[in-house]
Amino acid sequence: MTWDHTAPRENSNPMEDLRKWIRQELWDQVPVSISVIDRSFHIIEANRCFVNTYGEWRKRPCYEIYKGRAERCENCAAAETFEDGQVRIREETGIVRDGLQTYYLVHMLPLVRPSGELPYIIEMSTDITAYKVLEKEKLEAERLAAVGQTVAGLAHGIKNLLMGLEGGIYVFRSGMQQADSERMVKGWAMLDENIARISTFVKEFLEFAKGRVPKVHLVSPNQIAQQVFDLFEHKAELAGISLRSDFQPNLPYALMDEDGIHTCLVNLVSNALDACEISDKSDRSVVLSTGDEDGVLVFKVSDNGTGMDYEVKKHVFTNFFTTKGSDKGTGLGLLTTKKIVQEHGGRVSYESAEGEGSVFRLQFPRDRLPHLGEEAKSDVFCVTGG
Ligand SMILES: Nc1ncnc2c1ncn2[C@@H]1O[C@H](COP(=O)(O)OP(=O)(O)O)[C@@H](O)[C@H]1O
Ligand SMILES: [Mg+2]
Repeated sequence: MTWDHTAPRENSNPMEDLRKWIRQELWDQVPVSISVIDRSFHIIEANRCFVNTYGEWRKRPCYEIYKGRAERCENCAAAETFEDGQVRIREETGIVRDGLQTYYLVHMLPLVRPSGELPYIIEMSTDITAYKVLEKEKLEAERLAAVGQTVAGLAHGIKNLLMGLEGGIYVFRSGMQQADSERMVKGWAMLDENIARISTFVKEFLEFAKGRVPKVHLVSPNQIAQQVFDLFEHKAELAGISLRSDFQPNLPYALMDEDGIHTCLVNLVSNALDACEISDKSDRSVVLSTGDEDGVLVFKVSDNGTGMDYEVKKHVFTNFFTTKGSDKGTGLGLLTTKKIVQEHGGRVSYESAEGEGSVFRLQFPRDRLPHLGEEAKSDVFCVTGG
């Protein structure tokens, strides 16, 4: 911007000069495109920055100039501001005079007459293209880093599984060569076990990698928790661990992806049982509970197992982090849980003390739960109407 104050007039007042400059020059010198549009969405006035950016504006509607469109935009912010007189700020994409795509931040300011009439809107747009390009590059770099990390973890997992299979083949083959049926059975059992591990690994990996939209239905949180409880009751009993449930009676239904929440609870309960199994306490227990706290639906899994030390806590939500060895853990359970919970607008939190146990909490504010997809609406009708 330039303010030509080099040759002040005699008796001139610098403040007065500055004000005059603001009144006469600022309009054309600000690095922000400013235009005034009327109710037919035609531009009736624009500043120099606007002309430099978007070109000739006379007798042209705003959607043609900003976006190169032949008709008004869907979700037109100007139309909304004409409707309710509210200031609006939005990020938009547009096309500048040389045909390049641009990103801009636009402020819609209603110009209201004392009578309340709103004949015009001022649109002020700031070019944020450079910032957007940087943001995109940063996201891409992060994505590539995440892909690299995932591929490395996957390769590591596969290597361990192959070693297990090779071990089984070796034992089986040497049993065959020596006509030792006992050894053959042992080798076969090793192969069997490793194939089961591959299946678990692939299932967990796919669950983790799935970019899915939650399939939302009106479900009973207690019913999902009960199903998970039933799934583990026998396993806990065999391991000598007391598995208990503490479900809040009459817990209201919630819009959730039933399979997703089931997966989360399975992950938490199986981790809790694992932590108890390797603990040497005599009274090991896991409690699965549900509740509603001030409009927040809560699932809680507590255990008095090994708990976690500082190092484990630091890595607990990291890809492929497991303390269970590659033959038992995949290090994907908690991460998958977090992803599913976040898809429901919720959060995962935990407290854990080494040697004492852990509590994992899934909290879902009910007002942030996903809305119904079209295809799910008919199902809800069945639930409420049946
Ligand atoms: N309830 C718990 N008690 C103690 N440690 C836990 C508990 N839950 C998770 N962890 C720790 O977090 C790690 C990651 O868990 P997870 O993502 O489910 O992978 P995985 O169970 O395959 O190891 C576990 O290996 C374990 O060290
Ligand atoms: Mg796990």
